[in-house]
Order: sequence, then structure tokens, then C-alpha cells
Amino acid sequence: MNIRFLLNGETITFEKARPEETLLDRLREDRGLCGTKEGCNEGDCGACTVIVIDENSVKPLNACILLLGQVDGKAVRTVEGVGLGGKMHPVQESIVENHGSQCGFCTPGIVTSLVAAQINDESNHDVALAGNLCRCTGYASIIRAAQTAKKVTSPEWLISDRDTLASHALPSSLEQPKSADDVAALLTKAPQTRLIAGATDIGLWLTKGFRDISPYAFLNQVNDLTNIEETDVDYKIGAMVNIEDLRRWAVTVLPSYAELLRRYASIQIRYAATIGGNIANGSPIGDNPPALIAADARIQLRSGENRRILRLEAFFIEYGKQDLKEGEFLETIIVPKGLSNLRCYKISKRFDQDISAVCGCFNILVHSGMVVSARIAFGGMAGIPKRATHIEGALIGQNWSLATIKSCQQLWDKDFAPLSDMRASSAYRLKSAQNLLQRYYLESTGVACSVLEISA
Ligand SMILES: Cc1cc2nc3c(=O)[nH]c(=O)nc-3n(C[C@H](O)[C@H](O)[C@H](O)COP(=O)(O)OP(=O)(O)OC[C@H]3O[C@@H](n4cnc5c(N)ncnc54)[C@H](O)[C@@H]3O)c2cc1C
Ligand code: FES
Ligand code: FES
Repeated sequence: MNIRFLLNGETITFEKARPEETLLDRLREDRGLCGTKEGCNEGDCGACTVIVIDENSVKPLNACILLLGQVDGKAVRTVEGVGLGGKMHPVQESIVENHGSQCGFCTPGIVTSLVAAQINDESNHDVALAGNLCRCTGYASIIRAAQTAKKVTSPEWLISDRDTLASHALPSSLEQPKSADDVAALLTKAPQTRLIAGATDIGLWLTKGFRDISPYAFLNQVNDLTNIEETDVDYKIGAMVNIEDLRRWAVTVLPSYAELLRRYASIQIRYAATIGGNIANGSPIGDNPPALIAADARIQLRSGENRRILRLEAFFIEYGKQDLKEGEFLETIIVPKGLSNLRCYKISKRFDQDISAVCGCFNILVHSGMVVSARIAFGGMAGIPKRATHIEGALIGQNWSLATIKSCQQLWDKDFAPLSDMRASSAYRLKSAQNLLQRYYLESTGVACSVLEISA
């Protein structure tokens, strides 16, 4: 199969390529573009960050888990291709001037992340660089370099790459579904087809698990599942909306959810990972499911022309088992409006780029001092994302007070028996869950409890 894309302005074709190979391997081994480094090979360190451009977006992505099939028909810029007019990009100059590089292993990834951040108008450098690990320079000089670099929001190469893409000079040679209808038709014909969305899970099955994932199909050209539609009563989120687009949307609509998503991995992973993949993989520690279950979200599953809608919590049956039939796929996530009480808290060992040990999400409605309704959901507390139904039941109809919360203490064991693992012990998880309910209460009474206070 031929894979064709623009690489640093030049059209290249990998003949007889396997679409599930990683871009990083091809860049380094076939093209000799060794500026893009291989550190962790699992999306964690950012040393392999490249910039991927299409008609609508400019994304910093981790080339180590970016598959060739995902860049077919797009434009890619590596650190070798971001200079301007034969000179270094101002970000590169600024890193030199500010002594922002020692061994230099992380530097190409830091440069590409910062160049993409400038284009995307992302001025929070902590956010832009949360996925770029530097082991020796120290971040002060890197952040100084980022702050003082001359800003170039529309470099000449971006304009020329976009012109080439717009002229359709790169017809895709891969047969990929272009719409939800195509996906439905494909799965009707070949129900065992593995759908590849952002590949932030599947990429690791390949680079770490050496798994054979065939037969498979890429979803990245399915354009009708990448929108968020607003109706009078709800928001309909397409399964292929990536987590960074979701975060940006949520900033005004559901700010606490947006804060949770800011701590979802790094910007490179967020631009790749999709909300559909984060639900369909059935992980007990994914960040979206507890938030969406607390929000009483529903999902629309599709098989051929048949669609069914179910409450998100019903999708998760037990560890590793979801209510997804062969040939069925996740099309839309439906989130009701009116969620001003929703709060989402993530507990992890690191603030950024870490999987939750516990993720607690609360949506409690209080009227005249009395709890009228309560939806509480946790990740990391069971084999699936799960509601705290005993706690909810004990709160409803009671005074909204610390005394009520304390009186529920012995019920937590009825809802959860969490595991001990490398992220946290069972006892720590249970205690954290209890304390998060208390934090929700304190916040509702105006007490400042945000961990973000320290970054003010
Ligand atoms: C470095 C790193 C950090 C991470 N940090 C976090 C974190 O902080 N929080 C968190 O929650 N997760 C985290 N993850 C996990 C990961 O990002 C998610 O699980 C991700 O959302 C999966 O989505 P995807 O689009 O990449 O799915 P893919 O990897 O493409 O697919 C995952 C699974 O879902 C299936 N699938 C995808 N879309 C559909 C669909 N529409 N219908 C049916 N099946 C579908 C696929 O067939 C596959 O089985 C991290 C991952 C990495 C590599
Ligand atoms: S090599 Fe570490 S993120 Fe790709
Ligand atoms: S300069 Fe050595 S890892 Fe960053």
C-alpha cells in the first residue's frame, strides 16, 4: 500500500508501506531525519514531537505512536523543517540564547511543541510543554526561551503546505471510511474490523505489545463525527472529537470538566486521543467516563442503520467487558445541558501527564439546604468507572452539611473495594474518594480548595 504525504514541504511516497507502522520509524530509518528522537516510544516524553497539518488544524503529535495511515494525505513538519528563510525559527534562536539545551535530546521535541503552540496561540507554556520531558537542562531556561521568542503565528512553510493540501496534489491512496455511514457499511461487511481512532492505546499495542491488529480501519478521515452540536437540551459530541478540541469547547461550557481535561496526558496526546476511544476502550481509569456518568450522559451506538441509545454507565459491564456488539461502533456522546454543579477532581502522582489514581466527579443538586439529587462517579475505584449509589442514596433528602457527609462514612465500603496497584493503595483510594466528597462540599460553600491556587 502506498502512503503519500508532504514531509517538510516535499511530497514523499512510502511504497508498499504498512499503514500501521509508526511515523517515527520511517522518519529516522528511511528518511534519515534523526532530529526527531525516540525516547520512551509510548507517548510519554515528547522527544518525538512533530507537527501535523491538515486543512483545519496544526497539531503537535508524538510520532512514536502516530501511524503512517494517520498522516496519509497530510503535511508533516519535523524539527528539520521549521526554519524560516534558511535560518533557524525564532524559537530555536531563543533556546540557544537562553541556554535552553544541554544534552539536546529533548530539544527537537521542545522546539516543535513551541512552534505549534505559537501557531495555535497557546500562550500557557506549562500547558504547551507538559508533554516534553527534559532531564538535564531544567525548565527555567526553556520557559524563558519560550517567553522571549519572537512570535510567528503564520510561518511561510505553513502557508505553502496548506496551499499544496488545498490543491489536492496529494490524493489519499488509502481506502479509509470518510463518514459514519462508511464505518457502518464497513462493519456490516467485516464486523471484526478494528477501528483505529487516535491510536493512543492502539499505538502502544504495536510499539510495546507487538500485536497484530489486522484487520483494521482508520477513522481519521471520518469528518461527520468530529463536531459538537448544541440543541435546546443537550450537546451531541461526535466520537472522533479529540480531547484537546473537547477541552477548548468545555472551557466556557463546563469549566471544571475542562480543568480535568487539561490534566489528561499532554497536549500531544490530547490532540490525538478521541472521546470515543476513551470510552470504547472500557478502561477503569479513563478520565472522561466518570465525568460523563456524573453528568448523566448517554451514548449512541450504531450497527448498520440501527442505532440504540444507552446511559453511559450501562455501557461498562465489568472489567474488560462493554455493551458493544460485534459490528457496532460508538457514534455520539449526548451530554445534557444545565450542569453548573458538575465538579471533576483528578488525583494522580504528577500534576501533568499522568493517569488518574482516582478520578471523582460530582453532580449534586441542593435546594433550600436539602440534597435533591446526586450523581457521583469514580474512576480508579473498581474494575469499571462506577457510581457511588449507596452514598448518593444516603445523601438525597438530607441536609447538605459536613455532618451528613460524615454520617455516610461507613457506606463507602458498600460502593467500592478498590485495588492496590503501583498508582495507589486500596486504603489511599478509599480515603481520597471520601475526601473528594468533602472537598466538593467545601467548594460549594465557598471555601477555596483548588490545587491551582499555588500556580497563581
Ligand atoms: C502517554 C499517554 C498518556 C495518557 N494519559 C491519559 C490520561 O491522563 N487520561 C486518560 O483518560 N487516558 C489517558 N491515556 C489513554 C488514552 O489516551 C485513551 O484511552 C484514549 O482516549 C484512547 O482514544 P484513542 O482515540 O486514541 O483510541 P484508539 O487507541 O484509537 O482505540 C482504543 C480502542 O477504542 C476502540 N474505538 C475507538 N473509537 C471507537 C469508536 N468510535 N467506536 C468503537 N470503538 C472505538 C478501538 O477499536 C480500540 O479498541 C493516555 C495514553 C498515553 C499513551
Ligand atoms: S518517544 Fe517519547 S513520546 Fe514518543
Ligand atoms: S537538554 Fe538533555 S534532556 Fe533536555
